Amino acid sequence: MSARTKKEIRRPRKLTDLPGVGPATAEKLAQAGYTSIAAIAVASPHEIAEATGLSENMARKIVVAARETLNLGFKTADIVYEERLKVGRITTGSKNLDRLLGGGVETKTITEFYGEFGTGKTQICHQLTVNVQLPKEKGGLNGKAIYIDTEGTFRPERIMAMAKAVGLDPRETLKNIIYARAYNRDHQMLIAERARELIEEEGNIRLLIVDSVMGHFRAEYPGREALAERQQKLNKHLHTLARIADVYDVAVVVTNQVMARPDVFWGDSVVAVGGHVLAHVPGSRVYLRKLKGNKRVARLVDSPYLPEGEVVFAITDEGIRDE
Ligand code: GTP
Ligand code: MG
Repeated sequence: MSARTKKEIRRPRKLTDLPGVGPATAEKLAQAGYTSIAAIAVASPHEIAEATGLSENMARKIVVAARETLNLGFKTADIVYEERLKVGRITTGSKNLDRLLGGGVETKTITEFYGEFGTGKTQICHQLTVNVQLPKEKGGLNGKAIYIDTEGTFRPERIMAMAKAVGLDPRETLKNIIYARAYNRDHQMLIAERARELIEEEGNIRLLIVDSVMGHFRAEYPGREALAERQQKLNKHLHTLARIADVYDVAVVVTNQVMARPDVFWGDSVVAVGGHVLAHVPGSRVYLRKLKGNKRVARLVDSPYLPEGEVVFAITDEGIRDE
């Protein structure tokens, strides 16, 4: 992201700064949830027209203007390269796992940790909410985290232990984690939308966790007839998350429980819905499996640019570490 773009996103201008947007249109947009130029820039004209009642033509003009304002569009490859260099990384606590991920969990993208129960998905999420708060030289981003918990497995006590282990004040660490429990699928979608607004208001949120991203989507519609609707909602949710990552320079980390035997997994049409999260949006996928005791294997799958590979890490009292 260029310095100019970044500045504008951190201090958003008013909607009425966009050509063709007067106070009445700005109000319509705001009421439909498009409260910032960044939010408009990443929306589709069709979506805006539907939500606001503005004509599609008008919506298209507004989206184009918003994108120009934020400088979203074509750019030369050297700019893309510079942006890649600026991507933030959060240490997982394990040097092995960091190496697998190319230096830690990245901002501007979604990282999916998937695996069976007890493979450490939730533990990794907890660790990242602590580590994102570390200074850069210690592998953090000096930032805050949002934790969307769909399963009720968030444990502040565990965060405090992990914070202590890296030399952070446990209480202060908790204050930098914004928590929301999502009780069902629609609630989860709503919270993700709200997270986008929060990130814009708060600034300095560099990590968004959704643990787990698929649970509610699987649970609520048993039966084939609703598959299309579910898939559509899931896609919408994932795109909200992908936009948050890209526009606000946030590391989005999602978990996904899968069964160990893929034949069983894919044989069940209900479980298979959605498949892998990142079949739908770009990002990195890390498959976790158990070894003896507290050891776990992480395998990078389908990374857009990193070589595939496997590493071992451990879940210890202090948190995620090398074995
Ligand atoms: P599901 O959500 O059920 O799919 O599992 P998960 O992949 O999220 O597993 P989770 O991250 O909850 O990992 C559970 C593992 O972490 C278990 O093996 C626990 O023993 C271990 N664990 C959890 N808390 C602690 C702790 O305080 N100390 C230690 N040493 N291990 C812990
Ligand atoms: Mg879990």
